[in-house]
Amino acid sequence: MCGIVGYIGSAGKTVNVLVEGLRRLEYRGYDSSGIAILENGHAKVLKSEGKLDNLLKKLSLTSFNGSLGIGHTRWATHGIASERNAHPHVSGGTAVVHNGIIENYQELKDELKKKGYVFNSDTDTEVISHLIEDFLKKGSSFEESVRGTFKLIEGSYAVAIVSEREPDKIIGVRRFSPLILALGENENFIASDIPAVLPYSRKIIFLEDGDVAILERDRFRITDLNGHEVKREIFSINWDPVAVEKGGYKHFMLKEIHEQPHAVLDTIRGRVSEEKGDVYFEDLENVVNGIKRIVAIGCGTSYHSCLVGRYIIENISKVPVELDFASEIRYREPIIDEGTLAIAVSQSGETADTSEALLEMKKRGARTLAITNVPKSKISRESDAVIYTYAGPEIGVASTKAFTTQLIVFYLLSIYLGRYTGRVSDQEGRRFIRDAFRMPQLLEMALKLDQEIKELAMEFYHYRNFLYLGRGINYPIALEGALKLKEVSYIHAEGYAAGEMKHGPIALVDESMPVVIVAPRDGIVYKKILSNLQEIRARRGKVILITSGEEAHELNGQIDRLIKIPDCAYMLSPIIAVVPLQLFAYYIAVYKGTDVDQPRNLAKVVTVE
Ligand code: F6R
Repeated sequence: MCGIVGYIGSAGKTVNVLVEGLRRLEYRGYDSSGIAILENGHAKVLKSEGKLDNLLKKLSLTSFNGSLGIGHTRWATHGIASERNAHPHVSGGTAVVHNGIIENYQELKDELKKKGYVFNSDTDTEVISHLIEDFLKKGSSFEESVRGTFKLIEGSYAVAIVSEREPDKIIGVRRFSPLILALGENENFIASDIPAVLPYSRKIIFLEDGDVAILERDRFRITDLNGHEVKREIFSINWDPVAVEKGGYKHFMLKEIHEQPHAVLDTIRGRVSEEKGDVYFEDLENVVNGIKRIVAIGCGTSYHSCLVGRYIIENISKVPVELDFASEIRYREPIIDEGTLAIAVSQSGETADTSEALLEMKKRGARTLAITNVPKSKISRESDAVIYTYAGPEIGVASTKAFTTQLIVFYLLSIYLGRYTGRVSDQEGRRFIRDAFRMPQLLEMALKLDQEIKELAMEFYHYRNFLYLGRGINYPIALEGALKLKEVSYIHAEGYAAGEMKHGPIALVDESMPVVIVAPRDGIVYKKILSNLQEIRARRGKVILITSGEEAHELNGQIDRLIKIPDCAYMLSPIIAVVPLQLFAYYIAVYKGTDVDQPRNLAKVVTVE
């Protein structure tokens, strides 16, 4: 969850690369930060509690002139957010930054204390620097000391280490937490995530579990924990560096909401033939051949996309879909066999709960498919097949464009499955694909609601509780709308299946409880939701209705606010319906003055279970 960046190259560039890299990684963690730079063979360390700006203030009072260094932005696990617990942690000239959790740190700490090592923080990370120092003292080289240390450590880690003993190297080690190398001319980089290094290099190596990378200015090697050299492919990444800038928007979240038409189009393009009514996905045939059912898993927003995915797949391709939170499925006895296709949905592709659940299902015999946004991420490498969402880097912690691209992938997948099993005819295939291609334009239209939603947010931002209701395929959108509001504005919001309202939540409804109803027009569900509306009105609840269709205006007078979204094929309506809810959460957060892109307590990539 924390961000790591390391640089070895020219002295004039080090501080800048570290600071800019950390700035691009702040979304991974942001309760404290720090850097260590080796200058004339000495490790100079600077740390600060709070956001990166606090570190920058301190930096402006100091001068650094080393040609290699490491930096870190933290999301606290062991030990509160404080300068003392901020990384790097240093022992005898060895500085370490770490992302992950060391499970056996207490016993290692006890042993180190017995040997006389003094701990200056409450973190698990500090055992790493002391252990390395212990090996170095016994005469091991820097490399041997790192390998020896990580043979003793259990848990998950991505680390970058520099040492005064060999001040011309950065060593990185990974297990379960992401770590990449980026290669340049007479300079090399290490980072927890691609955006940190994107302006400098597109030549990326994704380290694998157990890899130890030794980085020098003009070369690198990768070994396993026993020192045997391993080869890793160099990938060329075509993400646009501008995509990780705000590009004139006040926040990444708003920018990413507005990028949805493009993101959805990019995710469809190149994968469909409108003429034949067919969808193409690489290497999918072996994975779906003979499947009897699907089990879909994810966390948070990605779980909501699984909920929508179930409706779409069961409706279009008639394959039964079961789903669960990735964090729950391992704690029951799910019925999984060779006829099961397990689908793991994850924007980052690194979420620990999702990865573990997927591996468990694989162990039980399932074939596995990842839907993810990050090339070569952990979950994509662990799956039998991958479908990428081409949303581009998502920096705002609250997921927006990744969600809508996940939904369009589920839609394309259901056409693919339907065509494969013969349940979708050529003609239906063509119609479905035509409907998909209308989405970017319809999303553009939905985004024109921006100003209207901004005004709505102004009217409602002082309320303390919200209820979101939806039914059928838009029930998950009610959950997603409530989640977005909670995350970025810290207002309590609950999402409910509209039919459940009378079974409990209706007790909450009064004039202080706005109710957001998500009900794009269709046949049955829409009419049923209108009865909910009357029940809420009868209890003086305030109603914001998100709906479509020409007749919508008939409801004026019966509700407090009507937000009219464009009409589209019902299976695709969640992609449109979620837009006003994303904007609503965004503007409420802006009015409340919260930190929209980096809400408190959250991290973009959740690599702990
Ligand atoms: C919500 C949000 C989280 C993530 C969840 C899973 O806005 O971003 O709920 O959806 O942490 O993350 P991924 O999709 O990276 O596995």
